[in-house]
Amino acid sequence: MRIGILGAGNMAEALGASWARAGHEVMVSGRDPGRTAARAARAGARAGTFREAAGFGEAAVVAVLADAVPAVLGQAREALRGKPVIDVTNDVGPHGVRPVAGEIARLSGGHVVKAFNLCHVDVWRSTPPVFGGRPLAVPYCGDDPDALALTRELAADLGCTPVHGGGLDRAALLEATAAFVIGLWFAGADAQAVLPPLAQSGAHRSAPAPAEST
Ligand SMILES: NC(=O)c1ccc[n+]([C@@H]2O[C@H](COP(=O)([O-])OP(=O)(O)OC[C@H]3O[C@@H](n4cnc5c(N)ncnc54)[C@H](OP(=O)(O)O)[C@@H]3O)[C@@H](O)[C@H]2O)c1
Repeated sequence: MRIGILGAGNMAEALGASWARAGHEVMVSGRDPGRTAARAARAGARAGTFREAAGFGEAAVVAVLADAVPAVLGQAREALRGKPVIDVTNDVGPHGVRPVAGEIARLSGGHVVKAFNLCHVDVWRSTPPVFGGRPLAVPYCGDDPDALALTRELAADLGCTPVHGGGLDRAALLEATAAFVIGLWFAGADAQAVLPPLAQSGAHRSAPAPAEST
């Protein structure tokens, strides 16, 4: 499929390169043509403006700093209306966590799915992200069935296991989870170790877990 990435930074390069290797046509985009072209070359992708990438993609990926979202979507929104838009951004800092996915849905008019925001860019550079023999699970939150199916496909193309985390109203939880685990990792704690396996999670004692879409 054609994937238009809004952004030409580390996440755009890491995800774009993996999707290009998986056979997709990728365009990365940025405000500086020289920097964008250099990133595109490294990712095996085309280079364009934000507006061009939004028009190019059957799916768009928002991979800019959260503060830049209004300006970038201001240039791209006409082409994004009604399209699948995957949001990988986090707005995490000393101020706390500012939810971004809802803002992206409002500003783009696209079918937004929050995904790929939980792990550091080095994880997305892994080919594939398999740890201890287990493929990385990628939680995603969104409402539109076609956009969700496309996100599952793109997660699988990275060698990951997609895990449905609910509707877009739950995206803020995924954003807060990113902030929390980043805090643990930077404090030197193994965030993976804080959660039990499913069989010991206690989930079977209460309501059934939400069915995972595949
Ligand atoms: N890095 C990670 O480990 C990681 C992991 C998960 C999620 N994320 C999220 O993914 C997003 C991208 O992160 P990244 O690591 O790729 O960051 P990055 O390497 O710093 O790249 C940021 C991108 O945003 C663009 N940008 C910044 N300010 C802009 C502005 N005012 N107007 C237009 N474009 C602007 C940059 O363009 P220029 O090159 O022109 O400055 C660049 O394309 C962020 O929201 C981040 O929170 C990052």
